[in-house]
Amino acid sequence: MCGIVAYTGQREAYPVILKGLKRLEYRGYDSAGVALSEGIGLSVYKKKGKVSQLEESLIGKQLNALSGIGHTRWATHGEPSDRNAHPHRSSNGKLALVHNGIIENYASLKRELVNKGYSFESDTDTEVLLKFIEDIFNHQSESLEEAVRIALRRVVGAYVIILLNEDEPGTLIAARKGSPLVIGIGKGEHFLASDASPIIEYTKEVVYINDYEIAIVKPEELILKNLGNDKVTPFITQLDMELAAIEKGGYTHFMLKEIFEQPTTVFDCLRGRLDAKEGTITMGGVDPHLDKLTNANRIIMLACGTSWHAGLVAEYVFEELCRIPVEVEYASEFRYRNPVIKEGDIIMAISQSGETADTLVAMDMAKKQGAFLFGVVNVVGSSISRMSHAGTYTHAGPEIGVASTKAFTAQLTVLMMIAMKVAYAKGTIDQKRYLHLIRELDSVPGKIEVILETNEQLKKIAERYKDARDFLYLGRGYNFPIALEGALKLKEISYIHAEGYPAAEMKHGPIALVEEKLPVVFVATKDAYHDKIISNAQEIKARKGKVLAVISEGDDAFASLADETLPVPVADELIAPLLTVIPLQLLAYYIGNAKGLDVDKPRNLAKSVTVE
Ligand code: M6R
Repeated sequence: MCGIVAYTGQREAYPVILKGLKRLEYRGYDSAGVALSEGIGLSVYKKKGKVSQLEESLIGKQLNALSGIGHTRWATHGEPSDRNAHPHRSSNGKLALVHNGIIENYASLKRELVNKGYSFESDTDTEVLLKFIEDIFNHQSESLEEAVRIALRRVVGAYVIILLNEDEPGTLIAARKGSPLVIGIGKGEHFLASDASPIIEYTKEVVYINDYEIAIVKPEELILKNLGNDKVTPFITQLDMELAAIEKGGYTHFMLKEIFEQPTTVFDCLRGRLDAKEGTITMGGVDPHLDKLTNANRIIMLACGTSWHAGLVAEYVFEELCRIPVEVEYASEFRYRNPVIKEGDIIMAISQSGETADTLVAMDMAKKQGAFLFGVVNVVGSSISRMSHAGTYTHAGPEIGVASTKAFTAQLTVLMMIAMKVAYAKGTIDQKRYLHLIRELDSVPGKIEVILETNEQLKKIAERYKDARDFLYLGRGYNFPIALEGALKLKEISYIHAEGYPAAEMKHGPIALVEEKLPVVFVATKDAYHDKIISNAQEIKARKGKVLAVISEGDDAFASLADETLPVPVADELIAPLLTVIPLQLLAYYIGNAKGLDVDKPRNLAKSVTVE
């Protein structure tokens, strides 16, 4: 979490940094700030709240600087406030620092510094790190770069830092461990940011900085070194991203735009891979490792949040089609227990951002125990994609709304294709079913378009239920993880308490909640459990609960029980999750919107969870 941007070159730095911060605001929006190398020295401006509040506070100010650093914060140490906002300044005022991550041993470092007479203005670990660097610079090293290197060898935790020094106005010193940093290379200028979105309109040439690397960045020069002071050759890659992909394009929110993009993103995900006419699935990232996958004793899905829900759907699909045992693990739990990892186990790490700290650390742990890591990632060049032995991108394009929508359906699409490929290679699926599933997957983009046409109807349903205090979401089989995902979407966006459960589990506790004001959302398309879930809906009706039902078009039996229906086109039960999640995304969006909430930036959340 936290977004950082920096610039050094011939342009006015402030507008570049401000625009970049707005693009990175999805990473945190508790406070924002900039430090600029102005003629008079270093100036630091910071403000609690969103980037627009910082911008307003600076209207009318002459901010002439050709280099600077900026930060948008997701608070970890210390409440959101002006005081705790970044950049922080050194005691002598000459250095300014922005930081993304957590310095775990900040308390002991702080004690050392307090004993030496340092005082602190904020509650942050960042100020401690800065003053630690300052102290080393003043007493132990000849250069700031060397001081940073010495300091980072003592630091435990994750960080990306960028330092600005009043005495060397055009030079930025950046370093990374565990949090992302990308540097854009322009002509006589450099752009630094947490992801490529602030950079894309200036240059497509970028360098992704690796863990334990330090970058010394000047307008004309980029020097990369490791913590041992050896030079590292920067590996320049071309960005494959267009500016339009990170703009709202006429939609009121990114979340709505991203929901409506799904016919295209699922299509893009299938394109060049699934050939319905030929009946083939070709996946560059999977084909060379097909043997490993077909011979796997077990697959462990590692993920968090929405990506974990994608893993749950994949568990059902892989076990059904491939007959390989699958475990789905919260990365945050997996990393702290002592899991049994055996030779032949495959870790599938699922992540939109590719930067989730818990997933990264869990992968690293499994790697050390000999597991084969396969990444299913959306952001190209991200840390998870680089840590994986093999993997595949989901090609959903940049997802800016904090609530994940199009990345989820892209994850499902990729995971389903992999399962179908593996099953076919293993011989655990017959040709007829394989070809049927290929055709079904191929028809998903068109079917999502049909669902999106029910948009207005969903808006009205949202209006009717927006004041509910709680929601219950129920599903069975392939649709059970979709019930969890529907509940997560609603609570993230509307702050309404929502629980997802397997429908039959309801009788073991949650049924106590049912009364006439409780909306119960059934995810109940026609599948092997349909009669069972109809009985579950009867049980809710008998207790006067309100039934909202995502059902297959033409399912009159369920429709007659429901207070509201959210129909989706008929699909194979295995493919259905790709459809049933769409009305639930829209329902959450419209309820959040009807309550007047900022759905793209829900309170307390951040898009990329780079702290544990
Ligand atoms: O980037 P990742 O997929 O690894 O992120 C995992 C979760 O933080 C993420 O899915 C989160 O739950 C979303 N806000 C859900 O909408």
